[in-house]
Amino acid sequence: MSHDTAPKASPALPSAIAGVPIARIAEIGRFDGQRVQVRGWLYHRRSKGKLHFLQIRDGSGIIQAVMFKGDVAEALFVAADHLPQESSLLVAGTVRADPRAPSGFELACDDLVVVQTARGEYPIGPKQHGVAFLMDHRHLWLRSRRQHAILRVRARIVKAIRDFFDGQGYVLVDTPIFTPNACEGTSTLFETDYHDQKAYLSQSGQLYSEATAMALGRVYTFGPTFRAEKSKTRRHLTEFWMVEPEAAFLDLDGVIDLAEDLTCAICAAVIADCGAELDTIDAIRGEAEEQRDLKPRRAALALVQKPFVRLDYGEAIARLHELGSDIAFGDDLGGDDETILTRQYDTPVFVRRYPAAVKAFYMKRDPADPLRSLSVDMLAPEGYGEVVGGGQREDDHDTLAGMIDAHGLPRSAFDWYLDLRNYGSVPHGGFGLGLERTVAWVCGLPHVRETIAFPRLMDRLRP
Ligand code: 4AD
Ligand code: MG
Repeated sequence: MSHDTAPKASPALPSAIAGVPIARIAEIGRFDGQRVQVRGWLYHRRSKGKLHFLQIRDGSGIIQAVMFKGDVAEALFVAADHLPQESSLLVAGTVRADPRAPSGFELACDDLVVVQTARGEYPIGPKQHGVAFLMDHRHLWLRSRRQHAILRVRARIVKAIRDFFDGQGYVLVDTPIFTPNACEGTSTLFETDYHDQKAYLSQSGQLYSEATAMALGRVYTFGPTFRAEKSKTRRHLTEFWMVEPEAAFLDLDGVIDLAEDLTCAICAAVIADCGAELDTIDAIRGEAEEQRDLKPRRAALALVQKPFVRLDYGEAIARLHELGSDIAFGDDLGGDDETILTRQYDTPVFVRRYPAAVKAFYMKRDPADPLRSLSVDMLAPEGYGEVVGGGQREDDHDTLAGMIDAHGLPRSAFDWYLDLRNYGSVPHGGFGLGLERTVAWVCGLPHVRETIAFPRLMDRLRP
């Protein structure tokens, strides 16, 4: 794919440098020795005698433009000394290799056109800002190098996920966001008025994916999901993205193998294509992160190789007791339990066969032990905890109907779901992988709030 240069400046931007080829900073090396223009924003500026050093960013990268007093009109040299950060600019100059520059190149600037002079001092300066301030200015915070890097890693992970499933014959089927029923418990539903009926924002596309899996064999849905989480933790958003594969004739072991292969594919793609982004994230760490003693991300991801650790729920509880947890057999793992358990490992950990009582109504009971479910969570290493939840689904009509009743769910909302067990029911399963938690782990971030452009948290709906 080539992002080729447009030969002319846009007519909306009449300027002295119209006609100078436009170069994207990420591809500046192709223009070594040539005169080009870069279109972007002033990221940073400093001056030394007869030189201005202007850091220009265009979204694809950052380059230093060096303006020498003798090379430009006097008025322009003076004006460049007063340009506020984030003013938008067209900068013309000759590309020259410079081994000291992060991109390997700098621009010998000979002309500059201001598109808009920023109105006042840019709120986000080089000094450390508090999280609340940065979150209030999220629309501007996204212009920082660390945020660029995180969003690029996120985009690469999304592509890796889609490539993985597309390559294995899984068909992408989008599932509805307005739903008449709960999937993951009634305590985290966002309710909305739907033409005089009650509707809920989808907590998971799974139930619909079970229907499409019976139609197409292997499917996945990938979209936003919503939970009215009342907890303010580093792992919970109220709106998050989840990829959910579902396949006919897939048992619990098959579900685990699939999650393992997907996770390896994600890590390999990020190592291959996002090395620079990972280095940027490693280099710009906040105070909270410095204390966490994380591995550099390239090294951490390189350790993610098959086979991952697979623990039975009982083994996980025993291990937790050794590690000092007071969790009781039968309890769900709490966030703290997941943290201490996964600090022990370099690969993700699968915990299988949770007590049926702590899992959703649709989980198939373990034929060997009816108190257990054919469920699995995948916990990310280094203390990150649950990123995948899934398992084998109950495929017997009457058993499933009994579980719907036992969970106090209205049968009327699930008639179509039960109907799937009337016509050619087969063993089947799948899982959901939370995108934001995966990005947080891959990037080594202390909180999911930086993994999505505009996070929705219990106490944050703006900007
Ligand atoms: O474990 P969960 O609740 O499983 C399901 O929703 C199943 N229906 C998925 C399936 O089998 N098709 O959620 C799956 C994953 C979690 O492991 C976590 O990564 C993410 O979704 N997740 C959240 N991420 C951010 N904020 C939240 N509030 C999340 N809740 C779940
Ligand atoms: Mg879960």
